[in-house]
Formats: sequence, C-alpha cells, structure tokens
Amino acid sequence: MALITTSDKTFTLQQDETLLEGLERTGHEVEYQCRSGYCGSCRLRLLSGQVSYPEQPLAFIAPEEILPCCCKVETDLHVVCHLRSDTPEHNPDLFENDLFPAGQN
Ligand code: FES
Repeated sequence: MALITTSDKTFTLQQDETLLEGLERTGHEVEYQCRSGYCGSCRLRLLSGQVSYPEQPLAFIAPEEILPCCCKVETDLHVVCHLRSDTPEHNPDLFENDLFPAGQN
C-alpha cells in the first residue's frame, strides 16, 4: 500500500480506497464535485510519485497535476494538500494544559 505524504502529514492509503477518499479520511481539505474525472475540482499538485488513470479523465489537468478522485496510485506520492482547518492536528486544543489549575491560587 502506498505511503502518501501531503503538506501536513503522512498516511498509508488503504486497499480499495481512492486517493480522494484517503485524503478525506485523514482530514485533508480537498475540493470535489463529480468524483469521476469530469470536473477537475479535485486537482492536486504532484511533487513526486506516479499515478495512472484506468480511464482517461475528461477534466483538463496540467502535467504536474493529478485528479485524486479517479487516479490509480502506482507509487508512494508527495502531493500539495493541507489539513482542514477544523482538524485537531491543525487546531491544537489551547485549553488542554490548564495554566491555572484548581487549588493553586
Ligand atoms: S471531483 Fe471531479 S474530477 Fe475529481
């Protein structure tokens, strides 16, 4: 199974999971509409690695871009993609460490 490195974290793509589904599962912000290669909304910049397309997508993509909804991941990948702003990794709990614990006043 391929190791996916994004701008914010690294995760293993699960069997029978598309790259788009893996990015969603791990809390990444990814745009999408058709989920089948027509619209191009999901396009991501590929920094390293290889993908293929079982069926040629209709959406236009630049040479360094991929469509995570319909590509087949062939190798470990490095892509430009960030976590959603509402994920715990992105927003550590500022109140986790109480600055003024009870009984110390
Ligand atoms: S969501 Fe439309 S091409 Fe990927």
